[in-house]
Amino acid sequence: MYALIKFFLFRKDPEVIHYWVMNQLRKWHANAAIRSFLKKNFTLSKPSLERKLWGITFKNPVGLAAGFDKDARFTDELASLGFGFIEIGTLTPLAQDGNDKPRLFRLPKDKALINRMGFNNGGVKAAAERLRQRRSDIIIGGNIGKNKVTANEDATKDYEICFRELYDVVDYFTVNVSSPNTPNLRELQEKEPLQRLLGRLQIINSELGKAKPILLKIAPDLTREQLDDIIDIVHHTGIQGIVATNTTISRAGLQTSGKDVEAMGAGGVSGLPVKDKATDVIRYIHQRSKGAIPIIAAGGVFTARDAQEKLDAGASLVQVYTGFIYEGPRIVRNICEGLA
Ligand code: FNR
Repeated sequence: MYALIKFFLFRKDPEVIHYWVMNQLRKWHANAAIRSFLKKNFTLSKPSLERKLWGITFKNPVGLAAGFDKDARFTDELASLGFGFIEIGTLTPLAQDGNDKPRLFRLPKDKALINRMGFNNGGVKAAAERLRQRRSDIIIGGNIGKNKVTANEDATKDYEICFRELYDVVDYFTVNVSSPNTPNLRELQEKEPLQRLLGRLQIINSELGKAKPILLKIAPDLTREQLDDIIDIVHHTGIQGIVATNTTISRAGLQTSGKDVEAMGAGGVSGLPVKDKATDVIRYIHQRSKGAIPIIAAGGVFTARDAQEKLDAGASLVQVYTGFIYEGPRIVRNICEGLA
């Protein structure tokens, strides 16, 4: 069924169709009968799927990765599709347009996407307000970043603004320093700036009351030495975990023709081509830290087998983005049934 729907959806511009589909879903979801149909068919509740982490109970370990619902516009609708949690963002203090369009491309031969969105979002305040209005009680992660116009030297301030705005309305935070689409952002993954940034957020976290889990989202392109530094920093700052991984800047091994890939231009590759890279990063961190660092896996999860591979490598939870586009709305249910 989804193969047929996808045939038509994939003929349209990916970004245009993203919002068209989500707005359709919102209209349908407003109808109580359709809402209960969606819940009945797409969600799977089983005690064996539950995960407890950082004092939070996740109904299942399959979440939606950051970037899909950047502005927290569709959390209630997405909750009805069975997700165990939704990571909103990346949000920045000020609203920004992101990069020029087109900036999102499909690579069907690779079951992949290339994107250079550039943190297009309506600003953290508006998203926080939407989260205050939401109906579902789904677990929400708040993925935070910096505005393009903010220099790296001042980046901490941007993360701090986002952290304070979202503190009351999210269950955990993800600090995104790994997007390839904001100039120089990934330099914040270096030891010194990262330690300063996370240290500062931890101070605010303890000042604000009950500390929220802070996770660090990392790129799949880091060297072993850089991963060792990250592990040190996680221990040193006492943050609660890692989201591994973001998209890759590598174009190696793609089936799509070099000419087509070049025409798409800069950006991060997600989906199947990043799957093994992400799993390697997860396995390395898990083994190196002797299982002390909780990991949320992202990167090329399409099936229950893919999810199990990430869990076996040491992840506690998984997220999907590209898999959701290629497999359709039943992906969470399918993965959950496989895992159960
Ligand atoms: C992303 N991703 C992403 N990550 C992030 O931390 N902040 C963001 O704003 C975005 N935006 C974004 C947009 C688009 C169009 C894509 C495809 C991806 C990365 C995403 O959360 C995830 O880490 C990677 O895509 C790898 O997972 P998948 O897509 O292979 O399941």
